[in-house]
Amino acid sequence: MTEKKKDLRSRKWFNNPDDLEMTALYLERYLNYGLTEEELRSDKPIIAIAQTGSDLSPCNRHHLELAKRTRDGIIAAGGVPLEVPVHPIQETGKRPTAMLDRNLAYLSLVESLFGYPIDGVVLTIGCDKTTPALLMAAATVGIPAIAFSVGPMLNGWYKGKRVGSGSVIWYARQELAAGRIDGDEFLSIAASSAPSNGYCNTMGTASTMNSLAEALGMQLPGAATIPAPYRERGQMAYETGRRIVDMVHEELNPDQVMSRKSFENAIVICSALGGSTNAPIHLNAIARHLGMKLTNADWEKFGYEVPLLVNMQPVGEYLGEDFHHAGGVPAVIGELLRNDMLPHPDALTVSGKTIGEIYRDFAITNPDVIRTPANPLLQRAGFLNLSGNLFDSAIMKTSAIGEEFRTRYLENPEDPMAFEGPVAVFDGPEDFHHRIDDPSLGLTDRTILVMRGAGPIGYPGGAEVVNMRPPSYLIKQGITALPCIGDGRQSGTSGSASILNASPEAAAGGGLALLKDGDTIRVDLNARTVNALVDAAEWEARRAEIETIMGAITPESQSPWQALFREKVRPFAEGMVLDGAPEYRAIART
Ligand code: FES
Ligand code: MG
Repeated sequence: MTEKKKDLRSRKWFNNPDDLEMTALYLERYLNYGLTEEELRSDKPIIAIAQTGSDLSPCNRHHLELAKRTRDGIIAAGGVPLEVPVHPIQETGKRPTAMLDRNLAYLSLVESLFGYPIDGVVLTIGCDKTTPALLMAAATVGIPAIAFSVGPMLNGWYKGKRVGSGSVIWYARQELAAGRIDGDEFLSIAASSAPSNGYCNTMGTASTMNSLAEALGMQLPGAATIPAPYRERGQMAYETGRRIVDMVHEELNPDQVMSRKSFENAIVICSALGGSTNAPIHLNAIARHLGMKLTNADWEKFGYEVPLLVNMQPVGEYLGEDFHHAGGVPAVIGELLRNDMLPHPDALTVSGKTIGEIYRDFAITNPDVIRTPANPLLQRAGFLNLSGNLFDSAIMKTSAIGEEFRTRYLENPEDPMAFEGPVAVFDGPEDFHHRIDDPSLGLTDRTILVMRGAGPIGYPGGAEVVNMRPPSYLIKQGITALPCIGDGRQSGTSGSASILNASPEAAAGGGLALLKDGDTIRVDLNARTVNALVDAAEWEARRAEIETIMGAITPESQSPWQALFREKVRPFAEGMVLDGAPEYRAIART
């Protein structure tokens, strides 16, 4: 039994003999709804439940219910729970993008955790950006923190087939464009993919980030993948509540858990999961708030060669419930450990034990859903880090390159590593939607589609729009994918082989701003380069107009936060953190 911590942080508010006046003020208000002096002034840690659920956030709404069990666990272990609202983030509901609000939720949670009498925090995670926002805040403030997923939705079904969140939209939009379904059927297919509460049931950004929160050591083993409506989800809520109280007494802080080692492990696990291309942005951000520099080069170094083990949509077949029954994240980590593929088995977790101690014996219970490294779904499931005259860093998930694209497009289908073609440039998603089907653009099966003005500044927060579909006249000829390059993001539920997250973005003066329709781009994945093949003098001459182009692709801010965000934001490659925010780490810990 750990000794109880004597100098609880919250006692500076509620039990400060040097300042009776303020102590009285702090106390009277928190007592007035029935808390007792014993709860606020003794050795009971005050535990925040950072609540991301609300009616605005359907994916995380079940946390409102689960928090009751978390409270029970906190009380059972001798803590005092306080539920703290987090700025809502709903991936599919927020205009212009939910990503814009990641840093806003981060900022507001930092203020709540830092400015109030809180000793430890349960981070309720789920929908895409809620996970990084809360982990970033825990990293800044540094008080003991444990994450707790809402859990994935149940599997979706349509006409006897599994239909997964998001992924089904990419499929249905092709069917619609080809005239095989109508609008009503489109809506029915979409609705069938979301049969219960919980986060997206595909291996999109939500499954990825919830799994990586466990991989980083920040959740109890198994907490990422229990489906939201299952009884085990409530039991895990209770255990999480119990554990955070002990963590406060043990002084187990996020710095100790989310070490450099944990991040390198998480990159490997991300590849084995087939994780979303949003993961590097978020993990690079969390690391920065812990004072570490994690880069896209690290993602390639540790993750590129790792095979894909998890057979989940969009790349594979199954969904969240199947993944859970096959062993979930623990089985994936166990398999990596048994094959000596996890670089740091000695990385610490919130359980107080190392990842190696905890996970080694978790077995795969369905070998089709979770594969072994000897029988993977795909080789080299990680991301390449690319650069050239269009950007300093962009990532590509080469394992998402489809068969039709491989044989049609790449120079050597056996080793598909280089291609070039003329570009069609779109200034943001609206421009794309207006013009893509216009036959006068003359797109062919060799065209490279470029999306710019979709980065953190251009489309505040960065739009998930780089996975562009070909024009409908090409889809009808069987051309289902063209190469895409852009300074925006791509939904984790999309399987497109795109070059994404280009940094710096066009709106910040990146090379994509200089590109013109009809220029040729050469992509050489062996050399890790992407270049516009434009005469150097001509390229420099275009720079004279760059301010005009940047202005043209950056619409007016529609809210004060958009304007502040645009002034302060760093590129995707640097985690899209707010300039200077990581420097407050030390100060917030006092
Ligand atoms: Fe919220 Fe996917 S939209 S988890
Ligand atoms: Mg998404």
